[in-house]
Parts: sequence; C-alpha cells; structure tokens
Amino acid sequence: TSNNKVKLVEVGPRDGLQNEKKTIPLATKIDLIERLARTGVSTIEAGSFVSPKWVPQMANSSEILEHLLQKKVQAPVPMTYSFLAPNTKGLQNCADILKANPETFSTQLDPRADGNGEPKPAMEVAVFAAATESFSQKNLNCDIQTSLERFKAVIQDSKALGLRVRAYISVVLGCPFEGFDVDPHKVAEIATDLLESGADEISLGDTTGMGTAPRTSALLRCMSAAGIRTEDIAMHFHDTYGQALVNTAVSLEHGIRTFDSSVGGLGGCPYSPGATGNVSTENMVYFMETLGMDTGIDLDAMTDIGSWISTELGKSNGSTVGKAVLGA
Ligand code: HMG
Ligand code: MG
Repeated sequence: TSNNKVKLVEVGPRDGLQNEKKTIPLATKIDLIERLARTGVSTIEAGSFVSPKWVPQMANSSEILEHLLQKKVQAPVPMTYSFLAPNTKGLQNCADILKANPETFSTQLDPRADGNGEPKPAMEVAVFAAATESFSQKNLNCDIQTSLERFKAVIQDSKALGLRVRAYISVVLGCPFEGFDVDPHKVAEIATDLLESGADEISLGDTTGMGTAPRTSALLRCMSAAGIRTEDIAMHFHDTYGQALVNTAVSLEHGIRTFDSSVGGLGGCPYSPGATGNVSTENMVYFMETLGMDTGIDLDAMTDIGSWISTELGKSNGSTVGKAVLGA
C-alpha cells in the first residue's frame, strides 16, 4: 500500500560535503550525484547558492546545476534536484542558470516539459530557518523574523518560476548554543509561517542529534496540534548520539513518510565539534527494509557509493550498515 512508501531525500552532495575543509573537485561532486541518481533515490540535494565567503565548499554549485540541466543524467525514476537559497540574491543566481537553459527541466507551471518520452528533472529550492535566535544569527546573520521575511520573497519568486520549495528549520530538538531549550511551539509557529508563505514541505532538522524519542514525539504532537499535516513534514535526523533510527521509528508512528539522509553519513554540524553527521542513507534504507517499508533504493548500490565517497574524502565510512554490508 502507499502507506508503505517512504521517500528518502539524499542530502549528501550538499549537507554532507558543505563543511569539508579540502576543496572537493567539481568532477567528484558530479560523479557522486550521478552515482546516487542510479540507486533509485528520487530527490538529491545537489548544491547551495549561499555566500562563498560563508560556505566556500559550495562555491561551484552553479556548475553543478548547469551540468544537471545540460547533460542527461541516467536515473531509473524521475528526479528532483534541490538547491539551497538563503535570500533573493541566491535565488537569482540559480534562476539565471535555469533561464539560460529553458526546456531542460520540468516545472509545476509547465508539466508538459515532462512529456515526449525522456523525463526531465524537476528543480527545487530550499530555504533554511532556525528554531533559535542564536543559531539563526550564526547561520544567516539575521534574526528569525528577518529570515522569514526574506524567505517569503524567495518562496514567491521560486513559485513564479514553477519551482517546488522546501523549507528547513534547523536545531528543532537541540541547539549548540541554547542546549535542549528549544520550544516546540516556536518550531510550529515558524513552520506555519513558511507554509503560509508557500513552502511545499517543511524539513525539521535535528542538527545536533540531541533529539530523543519522547522529545521527537512531543515535537510532532505540537506540529499536529498547530494544524500542520504530516504529509507536509520531512524529518532530518543526525546520528550524533545514535538516536536517529529511534527518532525515525517514532516519526513513522506519527505518520511521517519523508526523511532526509546522507550517503556514508557525510556531514556534521560546524558548531558541534566532533559531531558525527547526518543519519546515513544506508542505515535508513536497511531500517525501512526491516520494517517492510519501500524506499525504492538499491541498498547494495548505496553501500558501494558510501564506501567510494568516504575513500575519496579520506575518511572512514560513517555508516554502520554500510560497513556491515561490506564486511569492513
Ligand atoms: P551576510 O554577510 O549578512 O550577507 O550573509 P549580505 O547580504 O550582507 O552580503 C554580504 C556579501 O555576500 C555581499 O558580497 C553579497 O553580495 C554576498 P560583497 O558585496 O561583500 O562582495 N552574498 C551572496 N553571495 C552569493 N550568494 C548569496 C549571497 N548573499 C549575499 N546567496 C548570508 C548572509 C545569508 C548570505 C550568509 O549568512 C550565508 O550565506 N549563509 C549560509 C550559511 C549556510 O549555507 N549554512 C548551511 C546551510 S543550513 C544547514 O546546513 C542545516 C540544514 O542542513 C539542516 C540540518 O542539518 O539540521 C539545512
Ligand atoms: Mg544535516
């Protein structure tokens, strides 16, 4: 049944790589995205139109977007590629490339672009708010209210281009500066604002991995009490304290069917020293399989990519399932 279908959003190429200190070659990033696209995953977060002074690793996101539009990336399912944009300047940089490559992607305004055999990829823009004032300042250099006003413009402009919009809220279950003291009602209030601005989906980020089963449950009850539908929510867990799959199980019980994950467990939080990364896609696919849920993703293929990219980056494989499958 459709209730068994789970959508995993692969965030490795953006969230996973953004904090790597050594510049990763463009070819490696594109190779990673192309390998991921062949696994059956349907959405890949591919880059970020943020200030290169703030996040140097994402500086070549324009080239990545151009590649995805101009080359036929092979994929067994219709793909959506997602790019972060924190303000209208970021969206403009993204839109300039889209406009220079018409007819290469499908939009919500012009689904005909999907026609005639070859499915064209859909494009998504992601804005990112924070649940606490201190994280907002550190990540966006402005307070929450100002960020929401900026996002309103980004969302409106994105919609005018026919793009789907995802809106993150970071540090929803713990903040590196404010600890466990994150108000779930504040999260629901921010989510409501973003949905009213036109966002299609809210991704709730447990950026620090401080989420626990009871607090995840309390957050989702609060979202529901605020009238936010489960189908509009994605959960974004980090495995820093090893709680990601427990929190995923709780979220499934609350009816959530969209989850973010990162191949090889790539990524981390720059403000949480030593923090491990996003929950690995391998662990998520394996877990969903044990529950009889369908992600559409080939676990062996994903496992091979996790091993390959870890070697490319010179780090150990951050996926427990990946290591177990490979006997490493
Ligand atoms: P600011 O310094 O306040 O920006 O930064 P500004 O508007 O004052 O502009 C300063 C300079 O940046 C100007 O250039 C602008 O043109 C330029 P200058 O005149 O000095 O040469 N600029 C830009 N350049 C390229 N693209 C842009 C852009 N905007 C301004 N979009 C700003 C404000 C939002 C830009 C900055 O804070 C920023 O880029 N922040 C992004 C931080 C980031 O990417 N964080 C990671 C994503 S969030 C995350 O990872 C969490 C998540 O994964 C969930 C989870 O894991 O839990 C989503
Ligand atoms: Mg993350």
